[in-house]
Amino acid sequence: MLQLKEISFAYDDEPTLKNISMDFKEGRITGILGTNGSGKSTIMKIITRLLVPEKGQILYDDREVSLVKKDLFQYRQEVNMVFQNPEQQLFYTIVKDDIGMALQNLGYEEEEVTKRVQEALEMMEITHLADRPLQYLSFGQKKRVAIAGMLALKPKYLLLDEPTAGLDPRGRDKMADTMKKLVAAGTNIILTSHDMDLMYDCCDDAYLIKKGEVIAQGDKYQLFQEVDLLEAAGLGAPWIVKLHQALKTPLAENERAFFEEVKGEIWSNQS
Ligand SMILES: Nc1ncnc2c1ncn2[C@@H]1O[C@H](COP(=O)(O)OP(=O)(O)O)[C@@H](O)[C@H]1O
Ligand SMILES: [Mg+2]
Repeated sequence: MLQLKEISFAYDDEPTLKNISMDFKEGRITGILGTNGSGKSTIMKIITRLLVPEKGQILYDDREVSLVKKDLFQYRQEVNMVFQNPEQQLFYTIVKDDIGMALQNLGYEEEEVTKRVQEALEMMEITHLADRPLQYLSFGQKKRVAIAGMLALKPKYLLLDEPTAGLDPRGRDKMADTMKKLVAAGTNIILTSHDMDLMYDCCDDAYLIKKGEVIAQGDKYQLFQEVDLLEAAGLGAPWIVKLHQALKTPLAENERAFFEEVKGEIWSNQS
């Protein structure tokens, strides 16, 4: 398991993160919820060791992740982050070469690179883009290529920083389905967003942050019902929770389940 223990961090005089502790359990999608500027990306960069905290620890399988080069090298193959902006992570070659680049640099055999690239393309449903030059892809397609590049490393933990920002509704839903598929296939996910409906749909556990502090935490069915806290953090409750609280509709797991349950109730009331 991956854990943060009492992490504090500042870019300048003002503290950015204050005493943050988080557990990222295996087999789950853990969400970090917060408004713009609350510290989500900073937490992701602390986890991946791109930023070094002033205080606190990062534990991976109960061992502190050191800054020794050899240890970091291993850690960064197991814990990978996809930035909000895919442009920061792509090298503008042909899609399949871009996805295989990290593996190539790590010295993997050609055969293994080809196999892993193929698997990553399939997982992200972009096999048809394999031979295209990156510069002509849409933003959403670039995002999927950036994620495929990380998946090719077969990480234990995949950190996705606002993976649906800038996507259209269909791209957003597809990303949600992909994340669920990844977790089912054994990749643990840490996800940030302020899209509350998406977070409710995808997260098994979540942390709510406000100005660099954790103000609430819990599993999906606990945290998203804390409407006052969500509002205090500058967010609102997901629509499924709002309807549940106002109209006593079922607290369904997601939109699809909601409509199935409501439809079931309407039919049974009519008969
Ligand atoms: N490189 C930086 N230098 C100085 N301040 C920064 C830097 N990056 C982010 N910040 C500040 O840190 C706070 C948290 O930012 P960030 O982690 O990016 O929030 P979020 O991802 O939730 O939008 C904000 O107040 C932001 O302005
Ligand atoms: Mg951010």
